[in-house]
Amino acid sequence: MTRLVSASILSADLLNLESEIKKIQENNVDMIHFDVMDGVFVPNISYGIPVLQQLNRVVDKYTEIDVHLMITDPLKYIEAFDKAGADHITFHLESASNPAETIKAITQTECTAGIAIKPGTPAEEVFPYIDDNLTMVLVMTVEPGFGGQSFMDMSGKIQKIRNYANEHGFNNLLIEVDGGIDDKTAPIVKNAGANVLVSGSYLFQAENMADAVGKLKA
Ligand code: DX5
Ligand code: ZN
Repeated sequence: MTRLVSASILSADLLNLESEIKKIQENNVDMIHFDVMDGVFVPNISYGIPVLQQLNRVVDKYTEIDVHLMITDPLKYIEAFDKAGADHITFHLESASNPAETIKAITQTECTAGIAIKPGTPAEEVFPYIDDNLTMVLVMTVEPGFGGQSFMDMSGKIQKIRNYANEHGFNNLLIEVDGGIDDKTAPIVKNAGANVLVSGSYLFQAENMADAVGKLKA
């Protein structure tokens, strides 16, 4: 099973984003996780389309950009994020946009589609959308909005989604986890069936990023 590491640049040194991207690319990270917050869907505001466009000038072709939209009406912005250089677009099931229409809009671009669920949203709510058009389910292991929070164990939910996907022939479904992932929590989510790990503060605070990535992948 592939276990991809997606580095959340919310915890990067934003004044030195170019060197941070280079560091990510030199240290075996597979994806760059780009958290977009609108101050309405979550109680924080991060960065958006202009920053993503600029990022593409330094991101190499081996590193995919994993956009996590924590915004109220993601459907409105799918085209803009695709044009700005996203490779994967994940939106929240709890947002105001119609999930089926949003998945359709994403798959009509060059991007692959993901649905994210907050800690309080049951696994079953995502089941109706698991099919060939959905590449990824993102299980939040913190309440979305901030980096550096403590991990909430969502193993039961991850297992339910993995079992449902396998039973229905979607064995390639990616299950991503986001929030409080480090060398201690990674084994818990991997055992439950997650295969894409987002990590922000753990990676950027590590003295040696390559070692930290290695521990997440081990
Ligand atoms: C939280 C974001 C996360 C966050 C993860 O709302 O979606 O991607 O940056 O940060 P850590 O790994 O520090 O919990
Ligand atoms: Zn995120």
